[in-house]
Amino acid sequence: YHGEPDTDFILPANKAWAKQIRDQWKKNAGDVPTVRPVVVDGKELIGERKKVEVKDKSQLPLDVVCGVYVQATAEDLHLAVEVAHQDPDGWRALTPDQRHETLSRVANVVRARRGDLIGVAAAELGKVFTETDVEVSEAIDFLEYYTHAVRSFERPTLTCKGKGVGVVVPPWNFPIAIPLGGIAASLAAGNTVIIKPASIAVLSAHALCQCFWDAGISKNVLQMVPCAGSVAGEHLISNEKVDFVILTGGEETAYAMLETRPDLYLSAETGGKDATIVTALADRDQAIKNVVHSAFSNSGQKCSATSLLVLEEEVYQDPHFRKGLIDAAKSLSVGSVWDFKNRLSTVANPVGGALKKAIETLEEGEEWALEPSFVEGNPYFLSPCIKWGVRPGAFTHMNELFGPVLSVMRAKDLKEAIEIVNMTGYGLTSGIESLDAREVAYWREHIGAGNLYINRGTTGAIVQRQPFGGMGKSAVGAGRKAGIHNYVTQFMEFDEVAFPV
Ligand code: SER
Repeated sequence: YHGEPDTDFILPANKAWAKQIRDQWKKNAGDVPTVRPVVVDGKELIGERKKVEVKDKSQLPLDVVCGVYVQATAEDLHLAVEVAHQDPDGWRALTPDQRHETLSRVANVVRARRGDLIGVAAAELGKVFTETDVEVSEAIDFLEYYTHAVRSFERPTLTCKGKGVGVVVPPWNFPIAIPLGGIAASLAAGNTVIIKPASIAVLSAHALCQCFWDAGISKNVLQMVPCAGSVAGEHLISNEKVDFVILTGGEETAYAMLETRPDLYLSAETGGKDATIVTALADRDQAIKNVVHSAFSNSGQKCSATSLLVLEEEVYQDPHFRKGLIDAAKSLSVGSVWDFKNRLSTVANPVGGALKKAIETLEEGEEWALEPSFVEGNPYFLSPCIKWGVRPGAFTHMNELFGPVLSVMRAKDLKEAIEIVNMTGYGLTSGIESLDAREVAYWREHIGAGNLYINRGTTGAIVQRQPFGGMGKSAVGAGRKAGIHNYVTQFMEFDEVAFPV
């Protein structure tokens, strides 16, 4: 299996293409935006439903509308489940080969619309082009890989079919790859699907669903219902005709779903507090490069982001390491997503909650090695910041922040460093920078995380090569890792005792 290549934006032709995407979105900015409908029962519905305006956060004042969508009503949600359950277009009766053929067409449409998907995520979420570009590649990989996986289970002695109705509840920080991965797996496995997009990523969700619809998946087979989480909880997840849910979101959402429906098959990825350990035997320059990318790309808004940097004493005391880290973080320019020199753009939500507390507070022993600031006076342009001297149990040690804040901690040796990392109770990604094979082996044995990265950044798992998923507080419910061959089997029923591998 070969992954889809990313775009090389150094090439002049690709630079020109990026400019075209930007110019198109800038040109549209003054227009009356098209309203994205609710899609239920084969139809696009607008009517009297509540309209929500989406604003471009890259420009002050923050009132340039870049899109509008409508919210689904409780009746829409009930109807969507009924239609998905009835499956009037017979998606579930298709053979894996037939489903594969259709989903390959979707992959081709996504390939052709790479630029549109990059543009919509930039406008809606301030996601920089290079970050969405890799998401589009991952999305194509999901489509190709999951359908191949389902076909490989086929044999004369085995009948396998979908569980029925799947609901996909994705996050906003990967507005293309994660929703598309959930939809692709559900459809490949032979289910009908309803997507409840994240409230701040509806335009992106609509653009990617359009790829499915235009490739021939009907609007009965894939329905889209933007709505508040509480409405979805009450009128969608609670419906007993929903057979499974794929959630990427908060722990509390996952537990609320299980409380509503204890019988629900829930595959949930629920965040992380990920760390990179740098030992005295690391290549320190390489470590800085990997950590800075893992901590600050997409403004740290990745469940996989390195949010803790645990340094063995000698590295902690090394003034060159400290200066190199600070300089590298400072070199990331922050500003409008439409200006390509910027490596970081907006944080997606107004700064509040844990992130606000983290940037406004210093606890005992802590100092700013790089202080947070809001660039150009824009409350969404939060600069990268580094908190030095964070102690075990401190707020920024234990809490997920989802922002460009790196907390640096000291450890007397690798054993203590691992204890500090494991204390968080999360277990999604973890990294080590060390050139010593014995250290790496010890770390692998004792660290508690789903994805372990050695001398490599902690973000950007690749389908098949690095199946993605966590343990501890990072995984609630029954899910398997995304991007692995048997991921799809959890959304299927088999009539054979022997479970396929
Ligand atoms: N799969 C993403 C990554 O590896 C996170 O969802 O960064």
